[in-house]
Amino acid sequence: MTQNDNKPHVSVMLDETLENFKDVPLNVFVEGTLGAGGHAKMILESHPEIQRYIGFDQDQEAIQIARSVLAPWADKVEYVNANFSEMDEYLKKMGVKEVNGFFFDLGVSSMQFDNDYKGFSFSKEGPLDMRMNAQQSLTAKDIVNKCSEEELGRIFREFGEEPRWRQAAKLIVEYRKKRPLETTKELSELICSMYKGRGKIHPATLIFQGLRIAVNRELDVLSKGLHSALSWLAPRGRIGVISFHSLEDRIVKNVFRDAASPVRDGKIKIPAKMRLVTKKPLVPTLKETKQNPRARSAKLRFIEKWEQNCE
Ligand SMILES: C[S@@+](CC[C@H](N)C(=O)[O-])C[C@H]1O[C@@H](n2cnc3c(N)ncnc32)[C@H](O)[C@@H]1O
Repeated sequence: MTQNDNKPHVSVMLDETLENFKDVPLNVFVEGTLGAGGHAKMILESHPEIQRYIGFDQDQEAIQIARSVLAPWADKVEYVNANFSEMDEYLKKMGVKEVNGFFFDLGVSSMQFDNDYKGFSFSKEGPLDMRMNAQQSLTAKDIVNKCSEEELGRIFREFGEEPRWRQAAKLIVEYRKKRPLETTKELSELICSMYKGRGKIHPATLIFQGLRIAVNRELDVLSKGLHSALSWLAPRGRIGVISFHSLEDRIVKNVFRDAASPVRDGKIKIPAKMRLVTKKPLVPTLKETKQNPRARSAKLRFIEKWEQNCE
């Protein structure tokens, strides 16, 4: 029950990522989501000028994998086992002055998703866990067994965009009167009982998405991480973000749009310090989505800091 398929993580939209960092002189680079080090390896290979590559991941196991993948750059790469929302404190402590490139490839890796014991997948039997950071105490099991019906409904509505959020919350609360929900399979079967069959996606997809976002506070940390990144960016520096669902992409779009908009102070218009590199998000090619179906929902956005303020 606790086995790992050990499928390697296939990095998403590598060419598009590299293309958008191509002309940026990268001295200090920060990656918020190191994972298996796939993007890091390619960025380090394409930018020999990089002096410091600081990689965050809240999953200790991901850091270990990245360490072996990035061994050839051991003198440049610094690993931080922490949430990227804590980036400010870490970068200050590490004596960083400014950063030329940031990259975030959001969500979970294939290694995490395929690990039964992490409980991310509704199609694998495992504990209701869903923590990317194993040191954190809150799990999906706590949420489904302890939250009120109202709170569960809010999680499924806001983070899952599940049309039957009310019914799902009610079902769970009824079920746990008899016994606590323990496993992904129990939850998945319960949710499937609400649906007689739903088109393209598995009936439990949105409920699992909502729980995962709630357990890892994914939307709050994304907003905080992006604001931090903007504040550390050097002139001509760029931030690239790959998101995998509309809730994340909306946050990236709005934070970037605000940063690239002039600010009005009475009659004075203060020019924006940033410009959007991608007005519309880049999406993977058909070839990529055929080879790696996980890439299907990916959206990549880039923003750049002006060399000097201009309008
Ligand atoms: C999609 S994977 C990154 C894969 C990587 N780009 C590659 O090509 O190997 C996302 C990784 O980011 C980590 N992660 C997600 N959100 C995070 C956060 N807020 N802070 C730190 N790490 C995070 C996950 O633990 C996971 O290892």
